[in-house]
Amino acid sequence: MKITVQQGEIQKKADEAIVVNLFKDVKPGGATGAVDKALGGLLGAVLDSGDFSGKLNQTLALYPNGKIPAQRVLVVGLGKQKDFDLEAARQAAGTAARQLQDLGVKHASTILHGTGAGGLDLEPAAQAATEASVLSCYRFAHYKSNATSKKGLDRLTVVEFDKGKIARARRGVQAGLHIAAATCLARDLINHPGNTVTPSYLARTARQLARQHGLSCKVIDETGMKRLGMGALLGVSQGSRQPARFIVLEHNKKAGGKPLVLVGKGVTFDTGGISLKPVAGMGDMKGDMSGAAAVLGAMQAIGALKVPRYVVGLVPAVENMPDGNAYRPGDVLTSMAGKTIEIISTDAEGRLILADALTYAQRYKPSGVIDLATLTGACVVGLGHEVSGMMGNDEEMAEQVHRAGELTRERVWPLPLWDEHRDLIKSDVADMKNSGGRSGGALTAAALLSEFAQDYPWAHLDIAGTARASKSSPYVPKGAVGVGVRLLTQLARDWTAK
Ligand code: BES
Ligand code: MN
Ligand code: ZN
Repeated sequence: MKITVQQGEIQKKADEAIVVNLFKDVKPGGATGAVDKALGGLLGAVLDSGDFSGKLNQTLALYPNGKIPAQRVLVVGLGKQKDFDLEAARQAAGTAARQLQDLGVKHASTILHGTGAGGLDLEPAAQAATEASVLSCYRFAHYKSNATSKKGLDRLTVVEFDKGKIARARRGVQAGLHIAAATCLARDLINHPGNTVTPSYLARTARQLARQHGLSCKVIDETGMKRLGMGALLGVSQGSRQPARFIVLEHNKKAGGKPLVLVGKGVTFDTGGISLKPVAGMGDMKGDMSGAAAVLGAMQAIGALKVPRYVVGLVPAVENMPDGNAYRPGDVLTSMAGKTIEIISTDAEGRLILADALTYAQRYKPSGVIDLATLTGACVVGLGHEVSGMMGNDEEMAEQVHRAGELTRERVWPLPLWDEHRDLIKSDVADMKNSGGRSGGALTAAALLSEFAQDYPWAHLDIAGTARASKSSPYVPKGAVGVGVRLLTQLARDWTAK
């Protein structure tokens, strides 16, 4: 989707459709008022009828019949003015774009929602509207052989009357386009099945995005991992015909200082291994690389936005398979840090590959490390699908991550991580075991990670519940969410290293 900003008056645009908005129970004003006037007060009459109130995400299509040059007017509700915020602006923009796409509209013009009476800053509002417009129209039809070459909404013009606001609107739109494209990349990686997205595929994707966005990329193969002593990662991978890959992306190293390091769980398919998962829902485990997708997407956005900070992305990528050569329950693995781990369940594999990635991160002397992982079913049971669980070892970093989550509405909520949880993964035969059983599963998983996240501020997000949407919402169609891309990009832009 191409989105541009133009100075002008929306009621004068000759387009397939123009989009205006209304707050709940507020008479049309501003640009919407100008359109209403040009339509001879039609909107006012609709409001009086009570058929449309301006509730958030309510829409109304009007056909001006020559009174203005546009073929259609789409009015989108912004909800109550006192409840309005960036998220409402995102939802309204997403709803409108999606509605236009469903109507078969290819070119449309819109005003920016909420920058007048809504009181939003122009740049973030433009970014939000752009992100939501692109993300709401996202479709994944890669494997449909009769994919109706139906073109979606492909050009949106943001019309702003005030000349003084154009430059800021353009900056917001530009950022929004980069961030939305990165989120769509993550969604694609997750929606593609495990027979396409293998560890090598993730590595090729990383190389490609590095080339396109000026990052440096190094891919460590299994020989390299053996040399580094990544026994935990290699243990998980040894049952797969797909070779493991360890991806290292670096952005803006020349900025110097201690980098922010992003780590993403890249299990391209999780069968559970010898501790095989049940049949029901196993196919969803093609999304067990959602953390990796978030990191790759965020690194792409960070590169495209030229964020003036040193940021590193790390992706341990493996497939977890049962096989004659697979690791077994009872095995003991020696991690890169030298600590030994007794395997209770080969299905608790994510923490093992992350353990070595968190040890690898130490070489950067990071100012902070954040990992994202579809780590535990327990987190889904505890927190559901609207919020990711957050654990870590640093209050200040947790606060920054929380703020990024609120700003992007990729929300996180803290869960405890105490010595009592580390006690639950004590092993009789090794330094620790990889499962503490069913109770508190999200916490014992994080407890294992904490044994390796040493010497730096660290936050861990369990995105098992938030990575996939089972129903559509205004700017997240059902399927891969791409959760984490917007949060991580926000975090990197705002990161204040100590
Ligand atoms: N990838 C799964 C966790 C998961 C579950 C993600 C549901 C998304 C939706 C992870 O590797 C796993 O299997 N975890 C086990 C751990 C247990 C064996 C200690 C789990 O949560 O059951
Ligand atoms: Mn598993
Ligand atoms: Zn897994």
